[in-house]
Amino acid sequence: MSTAFLTLDGISKRFDPRLTLGDRIAARFGATVEDRPVRAVTEVSLTINPGETLGLVGESGCGKSTLGRIVAGILPPTAGTVTIDGEPVLHNGRKVTTRVQTVFQDPFASLDPRMRIGDTVAEGPIAHGLVTKANAADYVRGWLQRVGLEPDFADRYPHQFSGGQRQRVAIARALAMQPDLLVCDEPVASLDVSIQAQIINLFLELRRDLGITCLFISHDLGVVRHVSDRVAIMYLGRIVEVGSTEQIYRDPKHPYTRALLDSVPRLVLEDDALVEFNAITGEIPSPLAPPPGCTFHPRCPLAVDACRRDVPALMADGTDRLVACHVRAMERNAAATTALEEGR
Ligand SMILES: Nc1ncnc2c1ncn2[C@@H]1O[C@H](COP(=O)(O)OP(=O)(O)O)[C@@H](O)[C@H]1O
Ligand SMILES: [Mg+2]
Repeated sequence: MSTAFLTLDGISKRFDPRLTLGDRIAARFGATVEDRPVRAVTEVSLTINPGETLGLVGESGCGKSTLGRIVAGILPPTAGTVTIDGEPVLHNGRKVTTRVQTVFQDPFASLDPRMRIGDTVAEGPIAHGLVTKANAADYVRGWLQRVGLEPDFADRYPHQFSGGQRQRVAIARALAMQPDLLVCDEPVASLDVSIQAQIINLFLELRRDLGITCLFISHDLGVVRHVSDRVAIMYLGRIVEVGSTEQIYRDPKHPYTRALLDSVPRLVLEDDALVEFNAITGEIPSPLAPPPGCTFHPRCPLAVDACRRDVPALMADGTDRLVACHVRAMERNAAATTALEEGR
């Protein structure tokens, strides 16, 4: 039996176009109006183990936030299920659990400017009976302290804080709900580099001390490497590779993962063991019209006929790593055949 704590099973999300009256009239007169659905997420199956941080990486627009919002129960998927310990996160399109909480990129937008931050942090826990009104002040002070803020800051308003402090408040608000899973969507992307490091250290401390399970979304491979136990690489709505952080960064298997790593300065990766790769070339295709077969094939230096025709399945490569690549699968088969012949 799997010990998976969070399970995503066959998650897809399509955004259907909302044509305005103007669009429809224009279309009647022969104008080209975009009416194809956006395939933001396609057939994603993933698991996160208890206490684990899974990093989700990919270029802008590949579907990371959409997947994160589905995991958090904020957005219903078009197909597939999300379960925590076997319990669905959504029921009839509504979030039915407080076990998942979120931290977003922009802490300014996610905090109510008119509320004292103590009240912001206390609101959810009081509403869900995690703390009584009478005990809320102490409860909040405890969480503020836990994220590295002065307990007395509870009386202040969001504008009195720096970006990093506001993100700490957003983290305290999420933790005060005592979640089992935290979905963090680009939580340090809007912060200065020095502040990013402080918030990343806070995440590392929280994971160590509270054993929190986390889906950590970022376009930044350097950030993901620091916080993740395992990493999933997303391209055009699909997961193309999943492995331990060590496997992904030392020995990427999918040509897209290799290209992504190669596009990052060595300094950020702090790794001289990486082999030289060719830089990523070509544009990301539109999710309105994904290419047939492997969606990466138009940009892939290794592509063969099968890649233009069939979607590669995400398959184990003999270890606990998963790779969706025809060429890698063929290489594994060839190696297995050679091994058989040599053994004969
Ligand atoms: N509410 C929406 N309506 C229509 N298209 C959307 C919506 N949200 C996201 N998309 C599209 O889905 C794709 C994935 O977006 P997103 O999940 O935000 O990617 P990422 O977080 O990786 O940058 C993009 O093409 C984006 O334009
Ligand atoms: Mg995003």
